[in-house]
Amino acid sequence: MCGIFGVINDQTNEAAQTILTGLKKLEYRGYDSWGIAIKPGSSDSLLVEKHVGKIGLAQTSLPQGTIAIGHTRWATHGGVTDANAHPHLDCTKKIAVLHNGIVENYQELKVKLLEQGHTFISETDTEIIAHLIEEKLKNQSLKKAVFGTFKELVGSNAIAVLHGKSETIIACRNGSPLVVGMGVADAYVASDVPAFLKFTNNVHFLIDGESVILTKKSILLYNTDSGSEKKFSWSVLDWKVEDAEKGGYPHFLLKEIMEQKKTIPKTAQINLVEIEKTAALIRAGKKIVLAACGTASYCALAAKYFFAQGGIHAESYGAYEFLPFAQFCNSDTVFIAISQSGETADTLIAAKAAKKNGATLVALVNARGSTLERLADITIPVGAGPEIAVVSTKAFTSQLATLYLLSHAVDGTIAKAQQNLTDLGNALEKWLDVKLQKQVVELAKTLMDHEDMYLVGKHLNYPATMEFALKIKEASYIHAEPFAAGELKHGVITLIQKGTPCFVLSSNDRVKHEVLSSAAELKARGGHIVGIAPYESLEFDSLIKTPDAGDLTIFPNVIVGQLLGYYLGVGRGADPDKPRNLAKSVTVK
Ligand code: M6R
Repeated sequence: MCGIFGVINDQTNEAAQTILTGLKKLEYRGYDSWGIAIKPGSSDSLLVEKHVGKIGLAQTSLPQGTIAIGHTRWATHGGVTDANAHPHLDCTKKIAVLHNGIVENYQELKVKLLEQGHTFISETDTEIIAHLIEEKLKNQSLKKAVFGTFKELVGSNAIAVLHGKSETIIACRNGSPLVVGMGVADAYVASDVPAFLKFTNNVHFLIDGESVILTKKSILLYNTDSGSEKKFSWSVLDWKVEDAEKGGYPHFLLKEIMEQKKTIPKTAQINLVEIEKTAALIRAGKKIVLAACGTASYCALAAKYFFAQGGIHAESYGAYEFLPFAQFCNSDTVFIAISQSGETADTLIAAKAAKKNGATLVALVNARGSTLERLADITIPVGAGPEIAVVSTKAFTSQLATLYLLSHAVDGTIAKAQQNLTDLGNALEKWLDVKLQKQVVELAKTLMDHEDMYLVGKHLNYPATMEFALKIKEASYIHAEPFAAGELKHGVITLIQKGTPCFVLSSNDRVKHEVLSSAAELKARGGHIVGIAPYESLEFDSLIKTPDAGDLTIFPNVIVGQLLGYYLGVGRGADPDKPRNLAKSVTVK
């Protein structure tokens, strides 16, 4: 939920600037406050700068140096204040600590440290880490003190520690992501690759139980438990620097929405081996269980409809509600965990439970090197590229397109499905353009002052309404509530008054007339009906016409919701890339 970044042997001698620039790329991980610690040139002591608020336009006044660490915070323990911002220092101010995660046993550790005479400046769980290291350093080496401290922390955590005197950065991982990047002489450790992608794409993703020690002379990998050295497993990523830039767009969110004309058809060309491997398991009779959180869970639900259309039964769960049902997973189950980040705590817990009961774990991920990927028996990387905006868009459509292919691979019609996705790509090339953007802006202007909106859809368009509504809620803070069209008469209709905005998502399918009947019922109660569909209807007061792509029409239908959420958010003064209270990867339960 927070972003960690450290550099050693900074080539510009402006390590604080390097960290600041990198933190801006990690801001999606948390944006309550930010901070940097640097070991300036000749001095042993550390200098720290920290501030509440977003880092976007921030500048640092820290001096030159080649070693620094920095952090963007998503507050858990302690309010959003300068004092609670990371890095945190020990009493001697020789050790600076960054942390991502929650130290579940911090209160008992703090009591002991207070008894030992340590003084605390913040209300965070993180600060105890600096004091614990300080205490151990009295009679242990830095490596032992940091590893020993990290082993005492209960919970999912990643830390980075800067020790000024020895010019060393030590980072340890247990449950929260860390990646090391190796430049020519420079080296980096971060929560995610975009922080240092400008300098290197040669990376090692740490796994739980691994620690890395960066000094001016070496980069070494260790097993945190035993303290013994390990070999790195370096890989060269094919990410381009532009992938983590806005590319002329005012926000990442808009850039990522527009990129879908490329990322959706791309799915038809990749992962064919992994898709076939998974399809073979399903053909052999294994039961499909899909689980995920948030947007990815709506993808799971939509995929359930795709499978059903092919005559294949699949179950889908919000991963946070899966555990009571984990008992029904066994060696005859294919458990498909869907996650952009591969680090979502609830999804990992569900995946581990299913795997423990014998299920084959398939990870449908976008970010690479994640915990979920490492747990999986089969990994299907959906290839949408770095998704920086906190609001998920292109990862969702790439995940859904991949599951659409899988559903067709099972019954041997994948070639047709690939063609359909390619055709959809061509349709999006023409439709997803400035003209559509303008149309959505005009619609957004009419909706800007409403605080409640309702959405209905049926079958495939039901999960589409859920995703559409989430985009509006996340990006614009407007209450948007999705319903299955059939649910209306069972209570929901009481909410509709004169002028209530009601979105009706529909495709040219066999349930279209039932959905239009629901639209008529809403209209009869005064609802203002906005059709999101590939056809015109007298029931619609206004229409955003989407390309008619058969079953795949839900893709453009959802894209309208992404654009509308974006423009409503901009119009209402929200930050569409970093909505309040959210973080990109939710690594806590
Ligand atoms: O990284 P994941 O796909 O596992 O994340 C799951 C959800 O936290 C995520 O989809 C969340 O709902 C986003 N804010 C959606 O825009």
